[in-house]
Amino acid sequence: MTTAVSASGLQVLLTRDQIARRVAELGAQITGDFQGESIVFVGVLKGASIFLGDLARAVQLDATFDFISVSSYGDRAQNSGEVRLNKDVDEPMVGKNIIIVEDILDTGLTLSYLKRLFLAHQPRALRLAALLDKTARRIQPIQMDYVGFAIPDKFVVGYGMDYAERYRNLPDIRILPPEAF
Ligand code: IMP
Ligand code: MG
Repeated sequence: MTTAVSASGLQVLLTRDQIARRVAELGAQITGDFQGESIVFVGVLKGASIFLGDLARAVQLDATFDFISVSSYGDRAQNSGEVRLNKDVDEPMVGKNIIIVEDILDTGLTLSYLKRLFLAHQPRALRLAALLDKTARRIQPIQMDYVGFAIPDKFVVGYGMDYAERYRNLPDIRILPPEAF
């Protein structure tokens, strides 16, 4: 048994209602931006899976899903900036309208890497979406297309996001205090 902090003791940052309202707005925005065209949601496993599921259902367009998996090399605290692709997309991306879907934008290293990678696939359009943005932690500046909420520099869990694989199934987003690490 691990000694872990119970989810009910964690402070709520964003409620499921707040998240649902914002995701609906982002969905309407995407529907307007791509009127009548089809899009491919590319989710970054595993954290973005729940956001992708809700966002996709808030978009009224012909859409398909694909998923990728990445990991950061070495010590993130040292900002090595190296990202490794563990799982690539299954379908060809050339000529498609791609929306990369991330749970949280932190240093910006992951999305910067993914942007470069996907532009090389020669898509028709490439857009970047993240539910959360920890603006204070940015190392690599990045122009986002769809952001749900700017949040303070706290470690958050829930709605897909984990700490050591736990808490992903919380329906709201909560703050994991430093003493819980
Ligand atoms: P970055 O923008 O390259 O630093 O990486 C962002 C990734 O780090 C996200 O996709 C998450 O997987 C992870 N991450 C960053 N901050 C948090 C957090 O507060 N909770 C959970 N995962 C986080
Ligand atoms: Mg992630």
